[in-house]
Order: sequence, then C-alpha cells, then structure tokens
Amino acid sequence: MSTHLPTPEATQAWGRALAATLQPGDVIALCGQLGAGKTHATMGLVAGLGSQAAVTSPTFTLVHEYRDGRLPVFHFDFYRMEHPEEVLGLGWDEILDEPGIVIVEWADRFPTLLPPHTRWFDLTAEPDGSRQVSER
Ligand SMILES: Nc1ncnc2c1ncn2[C@@H]1O[C@H](COP(=O)(O)OP(=O)(O)O)[C@@H](O)[C@H]1O
Ligand SMILES: [Mg+2]
Repeated sequence: MSTHLPTPEATQAWGRALAATLQPGDVIALCGQLGAGKTHATMGLVAGLGSQAAVTSPTFTLVHEYRDGRLPVFHFDFYRMEHPEEVLGLGWDEILDEPGIVIVEWADRFPTLLPPHTRWFDLTAEPDGSRQVSER
C-alpha cells in the first residue's frame, strides 16, 4: 500500500505517525532517489519521538545522534559511503545493540548490513512533484 504525500509537511507528518508505532531496537530503512524526501521523513520521525533537534542529512558527518526524545535515534546516510566497512567502522554493530531507533537513508546501498527485522520504505517523486511512500 502506498501513501500519497502532497507536500514536504505531509512527508514529515508521515514520519511523525510512524514514530508513534516504534519500539526500542526498531530499524527504519528509507530508500529513494536524491530529493525523494528521506530527510524530511526523518525530521518527522525524530520530532515524533519527542526530540527538539533540527535534523539535517548526515551526508558529511556520517551519523547523527538525537538523544533528547523518548528513545535515542541514530540517523545514517549511506549515500557517500563506498564500502560497508565504513559503516561498521562507525560502531554499527554496537548501535544496533542499543535500545534506540536506527534510521538509514540510502539503506539499499548496503542492504546486507540491515538486520532482518528492518522495516523498508521506498519514497518516489511523482510527475506533479508530489511524493509517494510505500512499505516493502
Ligand atoms: N511530499 C513532498 N512533496 C513535495 N516536495 C517534497 C515532499 N517531501 C519532500 N519534499 C521536498 O524535497 C526536497 C528534498 O527532500 P529531502 O528530504 O532532503 O530528500 P532526500 O533526503 O531524499 O534527498 C526538499 O526540498 C523537500 O522540501
Ligand atoms: Mg537526505
């Protein structure tokens, strides 16, 4: 089933609604082209978990941590990573063991790193500029 997201605010609202369902240890994989709305969805997820943080893409710093909400959030973006070893070097295994939420933009670059219980979402842009999101 896919959800229509007419505006950036709708993308964030979708993330907030998803956040309400999350439990410690959950992993969210966000896939889609550049500009599809992955970071906006993450903004909603982080806000929905109660953090006040201003979410930005961790494209350059590789992982962002938000610890001021009801659960800690670890936000990755695999876009600029060349090898899975780079992800492992950021403490990936330890982070997966933490009772928090892991969100990964471009997770499909290294799908084998994601644990079996990961929830996978695809974001796509429509010809009219709106977006769609669907769970795999
Ligand atoms: N549902 C939507 N409809 C129209 N524009 C959107 C929507 N969701 C996000 N955007 C816009 O798309 C652009 C890229 O969003 P971003 O979340 O940074 O994408 P990504 O992280 O996938 O590259 C932003 O300008 C944002 O405002
Ligand atoms: Mg992004």
